[in-house]
Parts: sequence; structure tokens; C-alpha cells
Amino acid sequence: MRHLKVKNLDVEANLRLLRDRGWLAQGMRVFPHEDGQHRLIPLDPGAPVLIPKPFDIHEILLHEGLLDTRTDSDWWNHLANLVGGDVVESFGDSWPSSHEFIADMMVVRIEESLEAFSSQIAEAKLRAHPHIRLVLNDEGVQGELRIRKLSPIGARLDGDIVTRDIPEEVSSTRVMVRESGRTILCDPNKAYFSTKLQSERLETLSLAKELRSLLNRPLRVCDPFCGVGPALSTLLSEPGLVGDVLASDLNPDAVEMLLDNLRRWDNRNYPKKPIPISRIFDDRFVGVADATLISENPVLFGRWDLLIVNLPHRTIDLLPSLVPLLDRTSPSMIRGRVIASESEIEKANSALRETLPPTYDGKEDPKLRIKRDYSSILRLCSFQAWIAPE
Ligand SMILES: C[S@@+](CC[C@H](N)C(=O)[O-])C[C@H]1O[C@@H](n2cnc3c(N)ncnc32)[C@H](O)[C@@H]1O
Repeated sequence: MRHLKVKNLDVEANLRLLRDRGWLAQGMRVFPHEDGQHRLIPLDPGAPVLIPKPFDIHEILLHEGLLDTRTDSDWWNHLANLVGGDVVESFGDSWPSSHEFIADMMVVRIEESLEAFSSQIAEAKLRAHPHIRLVLNDEGVQGELRIRKLSPIGARLDGDIVTRDIPEEVSSTRVMVRESGRTILCDPNKAYFSTKLQSERLETLSLAKELRSLLNRPLRVCDPFCGVGPALSTLLSEPGLVGDVLASDLNPDAVEMLLDNLRRWDNRNYPKKPIPISRIFDDRFVGVADATLISENPVLFGRWDLLIVNLPHRTIDLLPSLVPLLDRTSPSMIRGRVIASESEIEKANSALRETLPPTYDGKEDPKLRIKRDYSSILRLCSFQAWIAPE
């Protein structure tokens, strides 16, 4: 999460200004910087990439967000009132104390042993977070399209909280998320989307700027697992960074939302219905496609400077079919994510180096960096590979 690094004495004034603009992260807290002179204020994911005046005098740091224990204690109090303090205590750490906000929805993961308390969990969360409309239980990512199964367990209806027979009018999961100053249409029940990847997208932005400086021209960006397009949203927000774009996904529902998003981000008239990948504008190839087959199309082969590979459980296996998409007449980059167990990371690093073409002179060989836990043994990692021209 992005944090504004502010001198201790200036915190109150900045908090007020950020709150007025809606740029203060909800449910997260301010905490001291290690230098003792500053505090880190959590920024809302919707705040613009380039934070304007009067905040631009402060540094922005990426740091894991810390939950505001006051909102947290509210949820524990409500839960204790609903199920009893002894029940809360008997299940200890199993209660879903963390959650993900997606616009006005909250996603929690309820362990099997606590499923009988789903209604009370939803009610306690809705009481503790008055801006939330709908609470969903995350039953995991499913299938090749990586769609989460999210079941509604509680909602706010005309000021009341309902936890059974939730009417359709309040259980829609199609929402607009604000991220880095842009709106992203998504429906996590129909296409993969995670708000937790914002810092990953900001890192991709800063790597893309480095590549642009090296090439001295706008980048041709290929995102063949683009989902509803959040990585492109961040890249397109930087003036002059992106030239041609390939945005495709195997999931037609994701492409339908991608077209809606591109219509707003690009201010152009994209089709409404998902179509097989095609050249919609001179500089835009968009549509439904199996990423592993795209390089068989001679128009799309050997054309791209930045390739984004976001299918972390298959990235390394799929790389051989994706590398031919790169333009090897100049330096290029692959930015990818991989799921691996900690003990297998070195093996995965060797596989990356064996599969990918040689590294561009002066840049580090690709290697996985652990970003967070995926499960008790698996880690979600990312990498960047700077590819030398042939
Ligand atoms: C982990 S999600 C990432 C989505 C998006 N890049 C994001 O960051 O939100 C992986 C995406 O790959 C898509 N996908 C899976 N297999 C694919 C394939 N063979 N070709 C193209 N897309 C595929 C899924 O539909 C899903 O949208």
C-alpha cells in the first residue's frame, strides 16, 4: 500500500486534506517511520498515481498497510455481542480478522469450522464498516479462468442488515473500483480481479518507465492475460508511456468489461460485446484469445516491447509460447508472476534463466521475489526479465 511520508508535526493537517479528497485509506492506520521524524499515512488505492500539490512535497513509500485496530476492535465487539465472548475465544485465530475491500463490497474467507457463524460474521463486519453494502465469502479461485467463487453472506438493505434471502438488487458484484485515479469496472464473480495487486501494478509502471527511457519511444505493451485490464489502467495513466497495446484474455466476460474500461480510459468507441482478438484501432489489438496461440498470428508475432504474464500457476510452462511475441530487434522486458514453494524458488529461477533469452547487458538476471503468502507453503512471487536484442 502507498503511504505518504509526512513530518510528525504535519500529520494532522495532511490527514484533514487527504480525508477531504477521499484519498485516506479506510480501515488502515498511520504509523511511525523508522527514522522517528516522520509518520506514514496510508493512501486510498483510488488516489492518483502522481499525487498533486500540496502533497507532492512528501515522499511516497510502498509499505504493507497496517489495520486500524479501532475498526478492528469494533468488529470483535460486535461479534462478541452476537455469538458471545466465550465462542469468540474458543475459535481463537480462526475468525476472519482480515478482509479485502472491492468498492462497496467486502470479501472475507470463512474457515469450514466457522461456516455455521457466517451470518453473525457478516453482521459484525457490516456494523463495523458502515460504508460496506455487501459481504461475500471467498470460496477460492476456480478453474483455468481463475474466477473466485464469492457467495453473499450479508448485505445492507434500506438501513437494515440482512443475512438470509439477500435480494438481487443488493447482491450484484459488478462494481466500479477506483485505483490510481482511474475507475475499473470489474465483477469478481465473473472475471479475476484483485485490489491487492495495486503495488505490483505500480512496480510494473516504474519498470515500464525505465524501459521507455532505454528505448526513447512509447512502449508497445502486450498483456495477453489481461482480465478486465487493471495493469493497462495504470500504464495508460502515464502520458506518452504506451503506444500500441495488445489486451486479450480467454474469458469473454473479462473481455466484455475490458472493452468498457478501455472505452473510458482511451476515450474511444470500443465495441460493446466481446469479440475474438482483432485490430480495433490502428494501435489497439483487443479481444478474446488463448495467449499460447497469439504468436502464431504473423501480425502479432515479434512486435512487443513489454510482455505482461499474469497467470502465476502456469507462467514458467507458458513462457516458451509467449517469448516469440517480443520484438527482439531492441531491448524488451517480461514482467511476470509465479507461484512457488519457498524450497522450489531456486529451481524456478534456474528454469526462468534457461527458458528466457539472454539478459540485457548491465541488468540483473531474472529472479523471483517473494511478494506474499499464497498458502501455508506456497509463495506468490514476481520477476522482471530484461531481454537483450538478438
Ligand atoms: C490471475 S488472472 C490475471 C488477470 C489480470 N491480469 C489481473 O491482473 O487482474 C489470469 C487471467 O488469465 C486468463 N487466462 C487463463 N488462461 C488463459 C489463456 N490460455 N489465454 C489467455 N488468458 C488466459 C484468465 O481468464 C484470467 O483473467
